[in-house]
Formats: sequence, structure tokens, C-alpha cells
Amino acid sequence: MLEIICKNTEAFIQRMPKTLRKQYGQFFTSMETARFMASLFSIPEKREELSILDAGAGSGILCVALLERLSCELSASTSVKITCYENDPSILPLLKKNLETAKAESPIKVALEIKTGNYIVSQRDDLGDDLFATPDNRKYDLIIGNPPYKKIGKSAPEAAVLKEVCHGAPNLYFLFATMGIHNLKDGAEMVYITPRSWTSGAYFEQFRKYLFTHAVLSRIHLFESRNKVFDKESVLQETMIFKLKKTSDTPRTIPISTTESNRDFANIRTIDIPYDVIVSGPTYYVHLVTDETEIRALRSINKFSHTLADLGLKMKTGLVVDFRSRDLLRKEPEKDAIPLIYSQHIREGRVRFPQGKDNEYIIKVRKGLMQENKNYLFVKRFTSKEERRRLQCGIYLKRYLPGFPYISSQNKVNFIDGKSGISECVIYGLYVIFNSTLYDTYYRALNGSTQVNSTEINSLPMPSMQAIESMGKELLHTKDLSEVHCNQILESHVYG
Ligand SMILES: C[S@@+](CC[C@H](N)C(=O)[O-])C[C@H]1O[C@@H](n2cnc3c(N)ncnc32)[C@H](O)[C@@H]1O
Repeated sequence: MLEIICKNTEAFIQRMPKTLRKQYGQFFTSMETARFMASLFSIPEKREELSILDAGAGSGILCVALLERLSCELSASTSVKITCYENDPSILPLLKKNLETAKAESPIKVALEIKTGNYIVSQRDDLGDDLFATPDNRKYDLIIGNPPYKKIGKSAPEAAVLKEVCHGAPNLYFLFATMGIHNLKDGAEMVYITPRSWTSGAYFEQFRKYLFTHAVLSRIHLFESRNKVFDKESVLQETMIFKLKKTSDTPRTIPISTTESNRDFANIRTIDIPYDVIVSGPTYYVHLVTDETEIRALRSINKFSHTLADLGLKMKTGLVVDFRSRDLLRKEPEKDAIPLIYSQHIREGRVRFPQGKDNEYIIKVRKGLMQENKNYLFVKRFTSKEERRRLQCGIYLKRYLPGFPYISSQNKVNFIDGKSGISECVIYGLYVIFNSTLYDTYYRALNGSTQVNSTEINSLPMPSMQAIESMGKELLHTKDLSEVHCNQILESHVYG
């Protein structure tokens, strides 16, 4: 069934310019991924009728993959109703043709409905004040989807309908997921393929809150390779597949599986992870854990009850966008120029300045581009996928650059600042934390991207100030800044 649909879709991709498809956030699921997603559903048993929803159906590959599976597993007396939403007029004839072909080939009874309106906006009237007042014909047994990936304005009509989950300008993909949860019957399942970005960060917090108030995660699949999921489409996003169930019964564990790409589902690795390790805290961060080491890291760190904020500390982003301040940058420490810290200055655990590179100083013209010369822990914001560690930090002490009341920092570094200054001992203690394998592992499970985001760092569980000081003392004693040594110190505090 599916081969012909994929062939037709390829022909559509060839003739339709990418710029046009982009307007609709349109890219297509591969045949292997579609079959894999369809395989994840627990099909309700002994039902005469099943309803399927595929919103943002494109050429119909996902609902046809599900129909292909149902056609093999259900008796001929079962009838299946497929509802597709698709609002790009140029793909509608192909969607119609593909669905008709699949229906004709299926041994079971199939009813088709194509809704050509906007999936979110057209349901506004149903939503009203009561999100649960939707008539039954808009609730489905099985929902499958690859939603459009597209940022829209914060006053776009879709954002207005689902303002409950928006924080600034939303992305259509999580509005589709929200509406999907809304359209699920109680106890029913939804399988979606989306970017991983929703699993952490403040921007998606209201969406996560909505998701976990109405449903539970029941399966996660991750791809190791970023560019091998939508192969013909050059989508460079960390992608994940998740299944959720509309229920309040939280499972004890859920399977998280991994494959290298979308072609090798035969080489799948699966591990059952305790649910409370995956979803935790008031911000509902989703930790995408893939092995025992990560489970251990999460369990250990989640025991800590502080955050940087309640210790009077804060991770901030560097102040200077260097290419916007080119005229202020200098190579030499001329009059009125102050040191500008770049990520290249973070070396072997310390900030080593100067490096003799261009633009290492900045003329102090504006307060917003300067920070007091105090003790800081600098942390790189960007690392490459190939680098072993995501968290890479360097100790900076005020006395490294005497004679400068102010310094500055490029926006590709973050730094931990304290309202009333941070002692050297606490800086060393923070270094133990941020240079440990435990925290690096924790952070990776929290954020799939290579960027170190200050909002997430500010919400990481932290030990008490007393523990940080005592770890700092221990490190100061030996001055061995290696990861192994930091691990020993941290673990003696975590495990006692
Ligand atoms: C990422 S594509 C996925 C297509 C198909 N489901 C697949 O997996 O190959 C998303 C689809 O949603 C459609 N779309 C975008 N915005 C929509 C909206 N507001 N309502 C309905 N469909 C929409 C796009 O035209 C596009 O075909």
C-alpha cells in the first residue's frame, strides 16, 4: 500500500518548489518511519469501529501506514474511519488520490473524510470556554501525526485559539500536539514525530503542563543522527517520536528506544526507564535517558533541592554580540579598552587571557557591554556534536586581570554571577559541579541540542551552598582540575 504513496509523494516533491512547501511547514515522513510509527499503537480490541486522525496529512503517508497495519490485524467486519486535515490546496489532489488507492486495496471497510480547513482555527468554535465540550465526532481512537514545523506570530489566529500553551511566538508543531491531545478519546493513544525541543526550556513549559495534565507519555523513540530522519528534506533538527495516552494513570516505566537513522529500525535498542526519572519537577522537563549511567545521574542529581537562584546565583549570557560591535573591538589593551572573554579563552578549566587573538579587547562605551571584574565561572554556550562534553567551563578570578575594574564577555559564553560576589572557594565548588561527568550526563539527557541554555542551567538541581563550599575547599587543596577528580569530589558528596 505504502510504496505507491511514497512514489507519488516523491514526484510531488520534485515538482513543488521548496519555498512553497516551506510556507506550510511541509516535509514528508519516510516509509520506514511511517511504518514504525504505526507499529507503536496498542490497537483497541473487539471494536466494530475505529476512528483515525491524521492532522497535517500531506500526502497521507501516516494514516495509510496505520491503515496498512489495521488491514492485516483487524477482521473484515471492522470499519475504520480516517479523518485528514490538510490546508495546502496544491497537495489535496494527491492526498485524495492516495487515500482512495489505499481504501481500494484494504480488505476492511474504510470511510474517508478530508477536511481542507485549518486544523487549529477550524476547531475554535468547538473549544469555546470549555476545552472538553467538543462533540464526540471530533474525538478519535488513534491519532498519528507529523505536524508542520513552523514558527508563527504570537498574535497569529492559531496562537489565539491555543493561548493557554503559548509563551511568546509559538511553533505550529506544539499547537498541533496540543490540539491532538484535545482530540483524543479518553484512554486513546497519539503517536507524533516532532523536534526534541519541547522537552525542556521555559518556552515550552505551558505546553508540557497541558500535556502532562491531560496525558502520560507511554513510549519515546530517539534518532542518533540529526540529518537522517527526513533524508530528502535536509531537516537539521533533533527529532523524536513519542506516543502518549490520554489517561491520568502514570506507568511505572516506559520504553525509550534509539536507532541511528530512519532506515535501520531493525537495529533498535530499547531500555525501560522509570517514569519519574523521565518526567520530573514543577517544570515537567522530559529527560531523554538512554542508558543506566544516565538513570543514575538523574536519580542522584534530582535529590538536590536547591537551584542557582535560591543560592543567590544566576547563569547569564555573555554581553557582546561581537559582529554588531565591530567598531569597538581592539587587538591591544589600549586606553579605555577592557578584556573581552570568548569561549576560546576557556582552556583546561580556567579562563586564560589574553590569547593574542584579534578583537580581544572592547572599548568601554556602554554599561550594558561591561561587567564588574569579579569572580565568575564561565561556561561555553556552544560545543560541537562531536565534542565529548556539553558542559565546558573555566574558572575566572578577579585577580587574574588586576587593574581592570570591568571586563566583558562575548554572547557565545555564559557565566555564573552572584548578587553579592562569589568567593573563590564557591567558584571552585561550582567548577566541581559543572566539570563533573554526572552533571554533563544530566544536561545531555535534558537538552538534546548542543547549546547550553542559561534558563535550563538556572533550573538544574544544586547541592546546598555549604556542600558547594566544602567541595570547593577540597578542589583548592589539590588544584587538580581534571574531570576524574571533580567526579571523586562530587560523588563523595552525593553518595556520602
Ligand atoms: C510536516 S508536513 C507532514 C506531512 C505528512 N503528514 C507526512 O508525515 O509526510 C505537515 C503538513 O501539515 C499541513 N499544514 C500546515 N498547517 C496546517 C494547518 N493549519 N491545518 C492543516 N494542515 C496544515 C502542511 O501543508 C503539510 O502538508
